[in-house]
Amino acid sequence: SRGAKRGADGAMSVGGVDLRDLAAEQGTPSYVLDEADFRTRARAYRTAFEQAFAAVGSGVDVYYAGKALLTVAVARWAREEGLRVDTASGGELAVALRAGVPGAELGLHGNNKSDAELERALDAGVGRIIVDSLVEIERLADLVASRGGDPAPVMVRVTTGVHAGGHEYISTAHEDQKFGLSVAPGADGAESPALAALRAVLARPELRLLGIHSHIGSQILDPDGFEVAARVVLQLRADLAAATGVLVDEVDLGGGYGIAYLPGEVALDPERIAKDVAGAVDGIAARLGTPLPRFSIEPGRAIVGPAGLTLYTVGTVKPVTVNADDDATFVRTYVSVDGGMSDNIRPALYGARYHAELANRVSDAAPVLARVVGKHCESGDIVVHDVELPGDVQAGDLLAVAATGAYGRSMASNYNLLPRPPVVAVLDGGTRVLVRRETVDDLLALDVG
Ligand code: LLP
Repeated sequence: SRGAKRGADGAMSVGGVDLRDLAAEQGTPSYVLDEADFRTRARAYRTAFEQAFAAVGSGVDVYYAGKALLTVAVARWAREEGLRVDTASGGELAVALRAGVPGAELGLHGNNKSDAELERALDAGVGRIIVDSLVEIERLADLVASRGGDPAPVMVRVTTGVHAGGHEYISTAHEDQKFGLSVAPGADGAESPALAALRAVLARPELRLLGIHSHIGSQILDPDGFEVAARVVLQLRADLAAATGVLVDEVDLGGGYGIAYLPGEVALDPERIAKDVAGAVDGIAARLGTPLPRFSIEPGRAIVGPAGLTLYTVGTVKPVTVNADDDATFVRTYVSVDGGMSDNIRPALYGARYHAELANRVSDAAPVLARVVGKHCESGDIVVHDVELPGDVQAGDLLAVAATGAYGRSMASNYNLLPRPPVVAVLDGGTRVLVRRETVDDLLALDVG
């Protein structure tokens, strides 16, 4: 995070809090969240997009994607910075509501929402339910019919053939994945599933069609995909208008803005991407002869990822002699910490790369090639694949792993029955526990057999 610094004695602090003190008070592993950094990033996205879209005569709402990390305090910070909140389950919805976010400022996603989740969303007056299938459209409309009340506000999630993030975006005619409704024509040139779904929403008086939603991927570093997707969505909007006379008011371009995980990597710049996308949609709408809709976006990782780090304590250090391809050997120093794949599954799941630094001191010992591993019972339990650490790294040292704020805690598990770490916010030299550490008693309490 931007609030990470080294003090005079070399120890790392974040948000004015010495990480040695934080470790002593809260224990390790802990997720440390820099509140000021979170707020700065939230504001940067909102202002960049608001200004860029205002410049082309449109407007934009920024929804913080709660799947990246959602706690009551985090939802409040997002709201205080002028963001709305996107949820993807009844659990995320419950946290946002407990935070006091008005229903009207919430969205609910999911390809298989339960009736209970849909009812909760209707009870709370959620501002938009993003529907993902024909079955769901009919189910939601039936639910509204049986309950009475206002029509449910709906966006239709479509797939544009643009997949971005991690790898280059590619265009595919038909989509072999579970999300959304394809804009590509159906079999024998039939109308696209996306257009059919939009019509299905219009056909039900229990539903109010707000617009079209497209999310193309995550950790996107090449901005072109957003423009390609926007072109496809605006074309679909024009096609719907031609077929039905209804020109929808809103288009959501999803999340996916990529961040830097390693030193030297460069994140997407919100100002640049906002200008590029606003300029592109302006040109596209002009060519189509349609006025611009209101836009929304749903960044998660870009807001919270860099604001978080994970603080671990080193337990064991073990040099391992490795046979290289050319029969030469080298030594890799395995540094085991007190967490691992249960608090950060991303390296094991996606091959994600992270950076670790000694947090409690600096050392001028010659660096060694290290691999930071966890304490779980499998060899894929890797926190940081390759990192140079001082050769005197030893038990009791603190390691900080950067940029773990997104999809760390939110994808954490209790594998090997490890209690999940707390989320500790730091700001202006103070700490505040947002989510407390689990205890073994918490885990035992769930076991009622
Ligand atoms: N909106 C929708 C509809 C999404 O599906 C997602 C992410 C987002 C917004 C937020 O995307 P972001 O701005 O955070 O990239 N667990 C994976 C990421 C999965 C993202 C799923 N959808 C990871 O750890 O990389």
